[in-house]
Amino acid sequence: MRKPFIAGNWKMNMTHLEAIKFLQDLGYSYENKTGCEVAVCPPPTALRSVKVILEDDDMDIRLGAQNMHFEKSGAYTGEVSPDMLKALGVEYIIIGHSERRQYFAETNEIVNKKVRAAFENDLKPIMCIGESLEIRESGKAVEFVLDQLINCLEGISGKDIMRLTIAYEPIWAIGTGRTATSEDANDMCSAIRKKLVSLYSEEIANIARIQYGGSVKPSNISELMGMSDIDGALVGGASLKVDDFIALINY
Ligand code: 13P
Repeated sequence: MRKPFIAGNWKMNMTHLEAIKFLQDLGYSYENKTGCEVAVCPPPTALRSVKVILEDDDMDIRLGAQNMHFEKSGAYTGEVSPDMLKALGVEYIIIGHSERRQYFAETNEIVNKKVRAAFENDLKPIMCIGESLEIRESGKAVEFVLDQLINCLEGISGKDIMRLTIAYEPIWAIGTGRTATSEDANDMCSAIRKKLVSLYSEEIANIARIQYGGSVKPSNISELMGMSDIDGALVGGASLKVDDFIALINY
């Protein structure tokens, strides 16, 4: 019922020229045997080039961005608005990634404003939540992540939740090579879905997609994708290598 969704978060990697080369290389051997939905989320400077190649080569890959401001326009030097992304053909927007929370002081309140702005501008948010190692070791991970969920979704309607992707990304698993076990990852994704049932309804909770992110690679993707509540992956490092990215899509 939920279409699996594999998205590559390129983070601050690749100039637009490198992005063009990457997509050309990807195009040579691209295949999607699983029929999952695929997205790439390049840095803002590469969005236009990536969009043009995806269209020209007729590749069924969606375009995502990694961040945006919640205001429509105005005196916010250095920021990018939802409108600007929309005009570039962006469909998905990663919101509240732990790196933005950690290095750019994004709070649940800001994440909530951005999620609202995304829906208002017809962008589909990939909303990230996840706990630190300290919180995991204190045994309070579920409580912490559900609190993030509740706060980030404040005032969001059930209709919008059906277009939402939630990415559960434990911070201690990001870029460390240390993946959560599939059982632990699935337990958290199940807890998130249960919370969506209580906040919205069973029907809505069953439509919302929940990705896992954190050191996902070709060797662990199939096990993760085999879990009941994991509907996809948000991938950093491995999405930057053509062969690995194709292997992930064909989990
Ligand atoms: P890695 O796959 O490099 O661990 O990054 C995960 C991530 O942060 C995706 O958003």
